[in-house]
Amino acid sequence: MPAKDLETIVSLAKRRGFVFPAAEIYGGFANTYDYGPLGVELKRNIREAWWKSMVRDRDDVVGIDAALITNPRVWVASGHVSNFNDPLVDCKKCQMRWRLDHIEEGQYGEVKRNAAGDVTCPNDGGELTEPRQFNMMFKTQVGTVADEASIAYLPPETAQGIFPNFENVVASMRRKLPFGIAQSRVSFRNEITPGKFIFRTLEFEQMEMEYFCQPPADRNNPVEYLALHQEWINTRLAWYRDTIGIDASRLRIRDHEKAELSHYSAGTADVEYLFPWGWGELEGIAARTDFDLTAHGNASGHPLTYFDEDTKQHVVPWVIEPAAGLTRTLAVAMLEAYNEELDEKGETRVVLKFKPAIAPIKVAVLPLSKNEALRPAARRVYEMVRSTYMAQYDETQSIGRRYRRQDEIGTPLCITVDFQTVGEDGTPGDDAVTIRERDSQVQVRVPISGLLEALRERLPGC
Ligand code: GAP
Repeated sequence: MPAKDLETIVSLAKRRGFVFPAAEIYGGFANTYDYGPLGVELKRNIREAWWKSMVRDRDDVVGIDAALITNPRVWVASGHVSNFNDPLVDCKKCQMRWRLDHIEEGQYGEVKRNAAGDVTCPNDGGELTEPRQFNMMFKTQVGTVADEASIAYLPPETAQGIFPNFENVVASMRRKLPFGIAQSRVSFRNEITPGKFIFRTLEFEQMEMEYFCQPPADRNNPVEYLALHQEWINTRLAWYRDTIGIDASRLRIRDHEKAELSHYSAGTADVEYLFPWGWGELEGIAARTDFDLTAHGNASGHPLTYFDEDTKQHVVPWVIEPAAGLTRTLAVAMLEAYNEELDEKGETRVVLKFKPAIAPIKVAVLPLSKNEALRPAARRVYEMVRSTYMAQYDETQSIGRRYRRQDEIGTPLCITVDFQTVGEDGTPGDDAVTIRERDSQVQVRVPISGLLEALRERLPGC
């Protein structure tokens, strides 16, 4: 069973070094978190798994890493300066500020209304002001003079670093349609409403891919384009299930209603996860048509087209965009991996059952006790293992407690070096170690000479 409530994960994340509230010694900072030693590994592994499936395992997708702060005209052309707004309302009684759409969606519990049928403040039922549109982009300033001309923006999505480079990638990589450009990096949004842990933060990481394809013969009936959109929806859903290890019963696809479509989208389907508070978005897969390439082509005066060798014509490709949240996926990976089991003594064993490929630590090397006689062999095993796998060496506390600690951070395998390994009282050692599997707790004895091979068998995709 996954974690039933968020508090369990928030507390484990802090206690075990996954995620800390940012600037905690100063009282924290709203909707902002830091990633600790294990969080940074988990994040890196999820990104790697995404990059492998989207770029390395495919012939038709390449990567890019565009500048964060760029020419502000990009954000005017993309529509973000005029359209990337949230409707904000203030409570006239308690002065709290809310996102109207979030109140209406019931994100703060039951939606309360006054006699006139208008929604009221989720905090105290007070009357709300008329909604005002609030742009979610953070502004910054480039150069030393603070005037209109020096304004630049922190990117609220990675996509707009990709479109302006369309021609550069086609020309330098000799790409033919269809092909994709992938990018994973940080994005920023001035989110007003309180987040739920790292579900909604000011600064977060995304994994996005723009897949460029032939424009349809009939704009109003783009049959092949919509079929491709559906293919990407299926591919991405399968990735969450098979690679991240999310149970299919807590995943679903939800098509956007017309009214909630982003300003660029002709259709979007979300991959949603059943969070402890209800269904929430993990990834949006948008049919962006030719909106962005046309907009940047028009605004820059530099048409972004593709020369079709077959028809000898320049066309503006259409785009499908699977846009995932890396940090949000990290939260889900933790929620989903969390398990509590009763051991033979009736005590609770907490285990994070991460898929090995995303587990922060793959192997822990644990001498049976902190005994001088065991250390050289244990260190030798550790040095051997760490050259291939992210490994940890731990000789403090009882072996039982060390197993529990590794279970709680999701380490798939523990290796124990004991007196049988090194020999005792004149008896020669067997130069073998014990491998303990996290989920089954089964232990097997393996010669050190065959250890890496035994680990390889048990750590698929690592
Ligand atoms: N380029 C399209 C785009 O950015 P989006 O649906 O706004 O689409 C994609 O964002 C994903 O990024 C979301 O599904 C979510 O996982 C993640 N995301 C968006 N805003 C976020 C925030 N404030 N905090 C954490 N993750 C966020």
